[in-house]
Amino acid sequence: MMLKRTVAAMAVLLVGPMLWAAEPGGSVRQAVPGNEAASVRSAASTRQAASVHEAAWGTAADGTPVKIFTISGHELTARIATFGARVVSIEAPDRNGRMADVVLGYDDVAQYEKDTNTYFGAIVGRYGNRIAKGTFSIDGKTYHIPLNNNGNALHGGPEGFSSKVWTARMIPDGVEMSLVSPDGDMGFPGTLTVHVRYSVEGHALRILYSATTTKPTVVNLTNHSYFNLAGDGKGSILDDVLMIPADRYTPVDATQIPTGELAPVKGTPFDFLQPTAIGARIDEDNAQLKIGGGYDHNFVLNGKPGSLHLAAKVYDPKSGRTLTVMTTQPGVQFYSGNFLDGKQHGKYGVTYEKYSGFCLETQHFPDSPNEPKFPSTLVKPGETMRSETEFVFGVRP
Ligand code: GLA
Repeated sequence: MMLKRTVAAMAVLLVGPMLWAAEPGGSVRQAVPGNEAASVRSAASTRQAASVHEAAWGTAADGTPVKIFTISGHELTARIATFGARVVSIEAPDRNGRMADVVLGYDDVAQYEKDTNTYFGAIVGRYGNRIAKGTFSIDGKTYHIPLNNNGNALHGGPEGFSSKVWTARMIPDGVEMSLVSPDGDMGFPGTLTVHVRYSVEGHALRILYSATTTKPTVVNLTNHSYFNLAGDGKGSILDDVLMIPADRYTPVDATQIPTGELAPVKGTPFDFLQPTAIGARIDEDNAQLKIGGGYDHNFVLNGKPGSLHLAAKVYDPKSGRTLTVMTTQPGVQFYSGNFLDGKQHGKYGVTYEKYSGFCLETQHFPDSPNEPKFPSTLVKPGETMRSETEFVFGVRP
């Protein structure tokens, strides 16, 4: 088994960047030399494989059974549930080797199902983030998605992918979640077949997305985990130090729809080119920060879309934990947990107040279907949309 895996990894390294090495059923490797993720991966090729354990996890309100998968690696343990294909917990060590769960979430399916606002840990889609007035056109035909956020469609509409029970199967080091979204689901054209592969590889939780369609459609898939590197429920994230390699971001209107401008971050509280505490400027008198009560904006990543590049780095001075986010996507939504309001009662009996977790949602830009200048989210029959994101955990003194 180990030999087979190592050979598969080597085969990809030889063939070159951005190649997916295996079909469903096999191990998937994507090699991108010359960056941190690649080094995580080469270390990973000699590391111990993760073990995967499947268990029943209650039912959704309609009676559909839900499963939960525990992926236990040497350095990281992640639990992924089929309800919303969501990350329920990630245990990672602090600078003293003490493990803690570093994502927000609930104890059971009923609580996830009841909360239609936070999207804790879920895969959101078919279009993650917002579509203005829920309306867009493809080839002269106009489509309407039911509205669920200030007159706009958010995260695929009121019954997006985060509220579906996905099917799942074990893969080496992880689990593959799959969903077939029928033609017309939440108003989107085309039957969309989606696969999301989670794997624990060394210090990384790796997520591979793919989607195919029967009609031209728009797709934007992301994971909506809220991180608190000090540990779930361990207070505010405002002291965490964040770096985002983005010279520009997409400012929004009063309903959080991009104005279409790619604005420079220079001289604004959106400049995270140098590591800066999340809370350092969050209360500044800045019109953009006032709209969502903090950061809730898409950053235009400097790296090249399509190849794995850095999306963000975060350091928690309290625990010493670090999070490095790598992605093939053009953007990342940095959301500082502004709408958490103490009404969410999470795992371990904790309550989530404003700013008790942050999201780094790697993605295409919001409202791209209505912004021809943004990178396209159109997927046509015969094409496969693929993307990759890695959450890499580490420690600093
Ligand atoms: C996304 C949005 C936020 C908010 C959260 C969920 O990150 O951009 O405005 O809706 O989801 O609360």
